[in-house]
Amino acid sequence: MSLVSVDKISFNYQNSGLEILSKISFKAEKGEFICIMGPSGCGKSTLLRIIAGLVKPSSGKVTYMNRTITGPILGMSFVFQDFALLPWLTNLDNIKIGLSLLDISDDERDARAKELVERFGLSGFEDYYPNVLSGGMKQRVGIARAVASEPKVLLMDEPFSSLDELTANTLRDDIIYMLENKSISVNSVIMVTHSVEEAVELADKIVVLSEKPTHVKEIKIVKTKRPRDKRSKEFIKIVDEVYAAIAK
Ligand SMILES: Nc1ncnc2c1ncn2[C@@H]1O[C@H](COP(=O)(O)OP(=O)(O)OP(=O)(O)O)[C@@H](O)[C@H]1O
Ligand SMILES: [Mg+2]
Repeated sequence: MSLVSVDKISFNYQNSGLEILSKISFKAEKGEFICIMGPSGCGKSTLLRIIAGLVKPSSGKVTYMNRTITGPILGMSFVFQDFALLPWLTNLDNIKIGLSLLDISDDERDARAKELVERFGLSGFEDYYPNVLSGGMKQRVGIARAVASEPKVLLMDEPFSSLDELTANTLRDDIIYMLENKSISVNSVIMVTHSVEEAVELADKIVVLSEKPTHVKEIKIVKTKRPRDKRSKEFIKIVDEVYAAIAK
């Protein structure tokens, strides 16, 4: 059984006749890191929102452990490009939002949020508001909030693209470390990215989308063991192949 199955998803806005997504299918197996790539405006964010149950597809279905998604569920959490933190809440309280749907006591909520503060390197900042944080720290809060409910699937929409390269690198390494050491509950990630290098560094499977009406052009499997050496011949070869698939 696949963890997530995207089955012939099509989408169009009712006010415009134009089809945006056209029969998109792929699967996320347990343990897989999936990257979705495609031209600007082809519908990547829309697709991710459909998977999350935030937008209803025009046809097709998404299943999570064989159950059809009809709205947001606890098993899947979302990480946004612009962090989407609430500025009037402290960083700790922002993380606690991720725990709000869980049936646990206030003490347990406090304890779990504090544990996440430590795990995500936010100690000392928990009682401040998001505006004092750097972009990288804000995204740490965003990811901590998303994993707080112990989802199995993390959906991330260009989570590193508004960060400088150094900060993005550190955060990527941290996430891979947490996934591999199973220090977070997540075992599958579906991430939208514009960066071919980022996709080849992280993904087991790269889903390359076309221009609108958007279909799957190619699904590239990356088998290289992590951590991947960006300067190795093999890495560069896969990067070239992904660029070729995009240009096709
Ligand atoms: N209310 C709307 N009515 C009609 N079309 C819309 C509406 N909102 C968005 N669109 C179109 O839907 C398409 C898909 O948007 P989406 O944000 O999912 O694309 P994307 O691939 O994530 O883009 P980007 O690479 O810029 O993040 C875009 O072409 C956009 O113009
Ligand atoms: Mg987008």
